[in-house]
Amino acid sequence: MSDHSTATTSVRAAVLRAGDAPYSIEDVQLRALRSNEVLVRIVGAGMCHTDVLPRSPGFPATPPIIAGHEGSGVIEQVGADVTALAVGDHVVLSFDSCGACANCAAGQPAYCDQFMLRNLFGRELDGAITVTDANGEPVAARWFGQSSFASHAIATERNAVKVDPSLPLELLGPLGCGIQTGAGSVLCAMDVQPGSSIAVFGAGAVGLAAVMAAKVAGATTIIAVDLQQHRLDLATELGATHVIDGATDAGGQIMAITGGGVQYAFDTTGVPAVMLGAIRATRMTGTIGFVGVQQGPLELASFDYIGKTIINILEGSADPQTFIPRMISLWQEGRFPFDRLIEQFPLDQINEAEQSSLTGGVIKPVLIP
Ligand SMILES: NC(=O)c1ccc[n+]([C@@H]2O[C@H](COP(=O)([O-])OP(=O)(O)OC[C@H]3O[C@@H](n4cnc5c(N)ncnc54)[C@H](O)[C@@H]3O)[C@@H](O)[C@H]2O)c1
Ligand SMILES: [Zn+2]
Ligand SMILES: [Zn+2]
Repeated sequence: MSDHSTATTSVRAAVLRAGDAPYSIEDVQLRALRSNEVLVRIVGAGMCHTDVLPRSPGFPATPPIIAGHEGSGVIEQVGADVTALAVGDHVVLSFDSCGACANCAAGQPAYCDQFMLRNLFGRELDGAITVTDANGEPVAARWFGQSSFASHAIATERNAVKVDPSLPLELLGPLGCGIQTGAGSVLCAMDVQPGSSIAVFGAGAVGLAAVMAAKVAGATTIIAVDLQQHRLDLATELGATHVIDGATDAGGQIMAITGGGVQYAFDTTGVPAVMLGAIRATRMTGTIGFVGVQQGPLELASFDYIGKTIINILEGSADPQTFIPRMISLWQEGRFPFDRLIEQFPLDQINEAEQSSLTGGVIKPVLIP
């Protein structure tokens, strides 16, 4: 079944007009589908900390822009060449990749040669305009191959993952980035082993997903470090065996708990001093994963990382087409309760959602158009 259309689609979207402005809810026009694309009616869109990056001067994607890269929804139209998806399918949207480069061919789409161009620039590869506003002016879109802070988004077969229609679709968007990044870093990138020890720095959406995944992996010492007590309390409920206030000497406490350092460390803060602490708290032969947007240069002495593997991880090194179904199965088994991190907001309360996520009150806002 397919529904090809050459018409534009009227869409309600949250548009970021300037780096220091609130989002404004606007009616915009989405261009007609290309043959390899699908039109998705968004039912929920998670907010990830990466969505604030277009606010930073000098970042590749600039306002006016429609952000949002954890969408879930229902296919409303498919392009003529789309074979794997049909109208009515339920999908979770994830990051985009080319499918043709060496890393994509090797099942590593997070390290696609075109990852930055396809996900962080907010425009088509060929420079075409996807969205125009009420005055006919262009608005940046296709952020992470979607732009899901909107009633509808254009995606492709590669970044739309079909899911069982009996699932609560509006909860599933965060599996497309933040939750995938935390869980994938543990289960795919670092491949945490049963019986091992791990320290997770930063217990936000990404860090708490890592805590849950570490328990799934069978790690027996799971240490969460954060500055906020309520996040540490949740970490304990989700599987952390120890929690540490990041304002204290976390490294010393990790050494005392593990008797010589953890086998795995995972930083989601991006704070160079915390990243260095994560490296130093890892034993020789251990692995350190970084995912936070790095807030300054990291200076390492040789003895800081002797015998250690350091990975700057994108999207958990996961392939969304296989990893999103895996996380859903774990959730169905009661072993990956990612829904505990979610709080829903109507799309027109996106500014409140952003504020409460930046101040730490809400861990994973999900916007409902
Ligand atoms: N690499 C990727 O593919 C990828 C994907 C998704 C998100 N990210 C990035 O990951 C980071 C985390 O995302 P999130 O949604 O979990 O954000 P978040 O803000 O919810 O979590 C960060 C946590 O770190 C804690 N923290 C801050 N400073 C600390 C310190 N000095 N010591 C201990 N804890 C500290 C905060 O209290 C917070 O709980 C962001 O930078 C985001 O942009 C990267
Ligand atoms: Zn590629
Ligand atoms: Zn993200």
